[in-house]
Amino acid sequence: MSQIIDQFNRSVEYLRLSVTDRCDFRCVYCMSEDPEFLPRDHVLSLEELSWIAQAFTEMGVKKIRLTGGEPLVRSDCDHLVASLGKLPGLEDLSMTTNGSRLSKLAQPLFDSGLKRLNISLDTLNPELFTQLTRNGKLERVVAGIDAAIAAGFTKIKINAVILRGQNDHEVIDLVNFCRERNLDIAFIEEMPLGVMDERKQSRHCSSAEVREIIEQAYTLVPSSKRTGGPARYYQMPDSQTHIGFISPHSNNFCHECNRVRVTVEGRLLLCLGNENSVDLKTIVREHPGDIDKLKQAILEGIKRKPKEHHFGKTDEVQVLRFMNATGG
Ligand code: 5AD
Ligand code: SF4
Repeated sequence: MSQIIDQFNRSVEYLRLSVTDRCDFRCVYCMSEDPEFLPRDHVLSLEELSWIAQAFTEMGVKKIRLTGGEPLVRSDCDHLVASLGKLPGLEDLSMTTNGSRLSKLAQPLFDSGLKRLNISLDTLNPELFTQLTRNGKLERVVAGIDAAIAAGFTKIKINAVILRGQNDHEVIDLVNFCRERNLDIAFIEEMPLGVMDERKQSRHCSSAEVREIIEQAYTLVPSSKRTGGPARYYQMPDSQTHIGFISPHSNNFCHECNRVRVTVEGRLLLCLGNENSVDLKTIVREHPGDIDKLKQAILEGIKRKPKEHHFGKTDEVQVLRFMNATGG
């Protein structure tokens, strides 16, 4: 068990580490059209990222997921993967990516020790893809997914955010895309990040609705598969593909939350659903090489992990951070 235990006796074994807030896409649910990115000196260096990862793994964190923004827009991301891949005690190193650069990078990443990939794909319609990402090219992402399969990645998972009136008619096409390639897929409810307006509220599509759509075509059998995360999985009797549902609105999974995030600014973020955080960057920069100081700050910080998120309670303060500044 990890030494990092919060006041509700949840043991933290999973770190999501954001390596950049930048991205080559501008997905409508993630960023504004013209986002302001952080100045370079606010962003942790690759050495600082490795150092923080080492502190967490020495205290018992077994799983790290690299996120962004888009991790692969940061050059040398494969060097970071290689250095994290060597950390003793780390059992699972994975990455969430938009897939746009995987055609080139899937093989070097696999060879550097990355074992699992989550790739975002919300639509198989090229025009809609460009609309939802504001500038992405579907064919590059599909080529990237196929390159990852060819490179040897096995448990690839597709992430799809379903928005009513936009891509809700493509649920079955996305499932079939994954069935053909033996990929898993997780359908994610849009989380209310950034400024919430009526438009965002009306496009909300619940996991229950997505499940009903799938059940018109396939039988879903609840699966025992758990990834230590909030997804609930199902299988179809005639396929390897697992279908997960991540439902921050309709399903409260806080009581078994085993994760924390570190933002690209070095803020230890204790819960996606509120602004509670601890500044690790200052500690790393003021006490370079002092891993005990860093560990102490993490242990102090973890005491502030809240009991649960407050999404869906309309009178609560909104979370104004966008996802790219959070680490997806
Ligand atoms: N709600 C739900 N998921 C989101 N993502 C980004 N923004 C949101 C949001 N507001 C997810 C994308 C991608 C990952 C980086 O984060 O699906 O897979
Ligand atoms: Fe980029 Fe992922 Fe955000 Fe889309 S969801 S803008 S791909 S970080």
